[in-house]
Amino acid sequence: MLKSISLQNFRNYKKRTFEFDNPTVTIVGPNTSGKSNLIEGIYLLSNGKSFRADKDVQMVAYGGEMGRVWARLQTPERSDGGQGKSTDLKLEVVVTIGEVAGIKTQHKRYFINGVAKRRADYVGTMPSVLFSPQDLDVIVGSPGLRRSLLDHVLEQTDRDYRIALLGYKRALKQRNALLDLVKKTGESRDKQFEYWDSLVIRNGNVLTEKREEYIDYLNSSKKDTLDVKVVYDKSEITAERLDKYKDAERAVGVTLVGPHRDDLIIHFEKFRDLKLFGSRGQQRLGILQIKFLELEYIRSRVDNEPILLLDDIFSELDEAHINLILENIGDSQTIITTTHEEFIPAKIKSKMEVIELNAHSASSG
Ligand SMILES: Nc1ncnc2c1ncn2[C@@H]1O[C@H](COP(=O)(O)OP(=O)(O)O)[C@@H](O)[C@H]1O
Ligand SMILES: [Mg+2]
Repeated sequence: MLKSISLQNFRNYKKRTFEFDNPTVTIVGPNTSGKSNLIEGIYLLSNGKSFRADKDVQMVAYGGEMGRVWARLQTPERSDGGQGKSTDLKLEVVVTIGEVAGIKTQHKRYFINGVAKRRADYVGTMPSVLFSPQDLDVIVGSPGLRRSLLDHVLEQTDRDYRIALLGYKRALKQRNALLDLVKKTGESRDKQFEYWDSLVIRNGNVLTEKREEYIDYLNSSKKDTLDVKVVYDKSEITAERLDKYKDAERAVGVTLVGPHRDDLIIHFEKFRDLKLFGSRGQQRLGILQIKFLELEYIRSRVDNEPILLLDDIFSELDEAHINLILENIGDSQTIITTTHEEFIPAKIKSKMEVIELNAHSASSG
């Protein structure tokens, strides 16, 4: 259970600590009071990255050089009688911005109980599932949104996936830089390509395989919200495919195949594309269904119960959708934000703790 979270020079927070004594906490505050920023802080502690900042520097308070979030967690006694009773855990993420030779730099560091960790060894300690209004765009939005849907789950549940994703991104960046150079100079650089090709292929194949497994899970699981089927529109990366696109890649200067080009097509009612033929309501049900399965999957794969983050969704959804979410909360600790307490369903109102934010509350407390 998340007992407290502190934010320092993080978004609109100068310094603030939130204590949670209750498994259900509702943060009430007007627009721009910092509700989503708080959720973003918790998400960052959980996933090691933001759900909305393209660049980490955006999370550091304006004019600041370093933003920090840290949390105190209480993990329950282990049910298998293994070592350790209830333990306290401190997680921390620090984002620093600087400048090297006139170029802006950003750096993120992760700590568990004060000990620095690599991201691959950090993520997974405090799993979470976020429901936010942006989710409602996943079906109709860009392929990147749908890929994050996969990454989010697999990164939280699978260390090998985290390592492969990092390795893939790094190698892809280098390979693209090389392609760009070759495009400009007309050199061949075959030896260098051999090296980067082998890295993108090796890591890329891990991603493809694990994404495929997760999609199989989604398709084979029971659905009670909307009967969706996910089609993996994958962009496989192999030596043959790279060879096939060799000239095209050198002409445009970027890597044209691989999991960074994957997409998902979400079907409903047998083979209809939800994006093209679903009503707005059906698209919402579709994404909710996928999120519920995500929650179920994380629950089945990790020891710690995921925290649910519901960021301002009750004003967006009708009663039927809200009830579906409430049914899926289960035993999870739930952090809810809303502009008006009246939006909170009666079912949870009675057992929740309310924390109020006002427009100037970010620096106090
Ligand atoms: N890096 C930053 N430094 C300071 N303030 C920020 C930063 N990023 C966003 N903000 C401010 O945070 C506020 C939005 O907070 P947010 O949590 O999204 O509000 P809401 O309560 O509506 O969810 C805005 O006023 C915005 O200007
Ligand atoms: Mg918000």
